[in-house]
Amino acid sequence: MDPRLAGAYLTIDLTALQSNYKTLTKIAGNTECAAVVKADAYGLGASRVAPALNAVGCRKFFVALPSEAVRLRKILPEVKIFVLGGLFEDCAEIYVQERLTPVLNRIEEIKTWSAMTADHGPLPAILHIDSGITRLGLMEPDIRLLAGTPQWLDGLEINYIMSHLACADDPTSSQNQQQLEQFDSLRKLLPEALQSTPVSFANSSGMFLGEDYLFDLARPGIALYGGNPTPTVPNPMKPVVHLQGKILQIHDVDSQKPIGYGATYRTSRKARIATVSVGYADGYFRCLGNQAECAINDKKVPVVGRVSMDMISIDVTDIALDECKPGDLVSLIGGPIDINSLATDAGTISYEILTSLGPRYHRLYLDVNL
Ligand SMILES: Cc1ncc(COP(=O)(O)O)c(C=O)c1O
Repeated sequence: MDPRLAGAYLTIDLTALQSNYKTLTKIAGNTECAAVVKADAYGLGASRVAPALNAVGCRKFFVALPSEAVRLRKILPEVKIFVLGGLFEDCAEIYVQERLTPVLNRIEEIKTWSAMTADHGPLPAILHIDSGITRLGLMEPDIRLLAGTPQWLDGLEINYIMSHLACADDPTSSQNQQQLEQFDSLRKLLPEALQSTPVSFANSSGMFLGEDYLFDLARPGIALYGGNPTPTVPNPMKPVVHLQGKILQIHDVDSQKPIGYGATYRTSRKARIATVSVGYADGYFRCLGNQAECAINDKKVPVVGRVSMDMISIDVTDIALDECKPGDLVSLIGGPIDINSLATDAGTISYEILTSLGPRYHRLYLDVNL
């Protein structure tokens, strides 16, 4: 998009993304580090993010859906692509053609994928155990059934046994240790042939819970994109996203002037109010009205009044006149506006902020290494 036509610029720093991958590989030590690039790489564009990660050594990618996997296969013909959502109905031939590895979550999926090996020879898979999140994966009765019928696995090359933590972002949660123990005991019930299969357990936050959680393959997502995997301590990751909105107009107003829909804010002094070209249609949540802050040249200013579909109002009274004119850019995410704090202001998590980033931005990728 021609930047002159856009209301806001979204800059995605692929060098910071690569640096975050390298940081995570250091934390992982001998554990291999994959990348979770589902939901279009958390909204940042899998077609740019995945090659950038591949360029710094990432060879294994997780997506949620087969549609995402097929798109990624066109971009990276050689990497391993795992489909977390499982073996979708009537899609097994496509998985074979596109060399996709399903994460098998149900006995039926195991049987269907195994049956495919009659025509296609050995096929790879991940076996998913639900160790306590109660979402996807085999539970104890399924595992006991499988242990009694190991021929259901015939022809399958199980690359990893995996599970997923529900509370990894809270290191004080007892559920982390409980899931670790449950995972351990459920794996022991699996058929003998799977006892030495490599294991994948940790997401971003899980990687910071200690060596016991690392196993053979880590699956970070949000930490790659600058989200804080350790919410109780400062963020060890570099910011990847910078969102800047354009100032459309500036008003000098008296005290007690109502601002925006519903007149939910009134100025408490003579003020300068700037209208910025980003709104809830761009993923700048409506609940951020009267809550969030933006920044002009690293100085924070408050969002005042409600967020409209295409605009927000900010109070720029304390910003010098020459630093704030129509056409100038205001930082909505990035610089002093931390994505994790913005998420807290919105009553949500950085994941939702990223995956809600709208289609109207002029997108810019910084990639000095590529
Ligand atoms: C099964 C699984 N593994 C790994 C991840 C990556 O998690 P995170 O973004 O917290 O690192 C997700 C994300 O939702 C997931 O569902």
